[in-house]
Amino acid sequence: MLLKARVAEPLRGRARPPGDKSISHRALILGALAHGVSEIEGLLESEDVMNTAEAVRLLGAQAEKAGDGTWRVEGAGGFRQPGETIDCGNSGTAARLLVGAVSGFKLSARFDGDQSLRKRPMNRVIAPLSQMGARFDSTENRLPLIVHGGKLKGITYRSPVSSAQVKSAVLLAGLQAEGDTILIEPERSRDHTERMLKVFGAAIDTVEMDGGAHPRVRASQLKATRIYVPADPSSAAFPVVAALITPKSEIRVEDVLMNPLRTGLYETLKEMGADFTWQERHDPIGEPVADIIVRSSKLKGVQPPAQRAPAMIDEFPILAVAAAFAQGETRIVGAAELRVKESDRISLMVDGLRACGVDAEELPDGLVVRGNGPKSVRGGAQIRTMGDHRIAMSFLVLGMASKEPVTVDDADMIATSFPGFVDCMTSLGADIRPTG
Ligand code: S3P
Repeated sequence: MLLKARVAEPLRGRARPPGDKSISHRALILGALAHGVSEIEGLLESEDVMNTAEAVRLLGAQAEKAGDGTWRVEGAGGFRQPGETIDCGNSGTAARLLVGAVSGFKLSARFDGDQSLRKRPMNRVIAPLSQMGARFDSTENRLPLIVHGGKLKGITYRSPVSSAQVKSAVLLAGLQAEGDTILIEPERSRDHTERMLKVFGAAIDTVEMDGGAHPRVRASQLKATRIYVPADPSSAAFPVVAALITPKSEIRVEDVLMNPLRTGLYETLKEMGADFTWQERHDPIGEPVADIIVRSSKLKGVQPPAQRAPAMIDEFPILAVAAAFAQGETRIVGAAELRVKESDRISLMVDGLRACGVDAEELPDGLVVRGNGPKSVRGGAQIRTMGDHRIAMSFLVLGMASKEPVTVDDADMIATSFPGFVDCMTSLGADIRPTG
């Protein structure tokens, strides 16, 4: 389906984006590994997460939505041989975390995904899991692949990339391994797995090595618990940036996860001059959450430090849109991982921005956007998304504040992470509609 965004009235009102995708995947997987019934409140019911729900059913757990809107996951304390291929659809998180989680069980599981996921690197989890003792059949370390699980031994793994998916795959395998499993990464990535493992009663702590504190896990049987899923900051980023670039707007985005390893975009927007305030409180599993109040703002170009990239890795496309409406140059570096997301996001953002009349340039590990301030962006293009949900949502936000409407060539994939995106944005005052 094609969607077209036209210049919006000032945005007003409040929105509560759907549940956090990272926490939702983990709640299902840990609930399925545990003994007993776990309750999940606010699970994101997106295509990616529903693929994980189906996967844990194939692995022997029960996972259903209950009448009161919560999800109940009944785990059997481990995984059994699946009767069919585990289809991860578009989701790298589902594929990498599940491959890790099954590695310590005596089973052979075949994993597959859609065209985009089949192109994404799996060696980053195959390498450490093979060191631990799992065996793999794959062509060029891509999906489809078969994991042959079994007895594992703990390792200290120095990951070449800062990736919560790699870290989580190794830690989840470590739950079944003999000895300690320690994961060291160049910069800290999101720590939802570590936090949630504690809540599920796993033997997890941190160890001081190489000048930092790193997660260490030992073989553990998880115990069922209750998980609350706050709104996804990566989804909240779209209404937040839309309000910043749409003149005379003021909105409140509610109940947003504010884990410090996820707030890189919000720090960067503050440095750009964004006018927003938030008040933090804690949800029942100890993740910080906040309501964010945002007002349209005059933004200026910035250079976020490369070390901040993991804390805003999914937000670079929408940051590039904010940069297009800022005065001056925004230089994004240290973000080579963007090339192996659902699409090559560096190349697609630069192509799309240029098509909308914005001065943008590719770097090997990022991009440069030279903005001319509010009301300077022409728009008026049809954007090639290559089926990437975040590219689609970013350019629809751009179209809300550009002179001419912007169309995205495929909006269906938005349902992988933000079902209800169009309703959420239109309830705030946006004009986003299907077009022929
Ligand atoms: C995720 C980690 C990130 C992120 C993805 C979700 C997770 O990927 O881009 O959307 O839930 O662990 P990497 O770990 O590959 O950076």
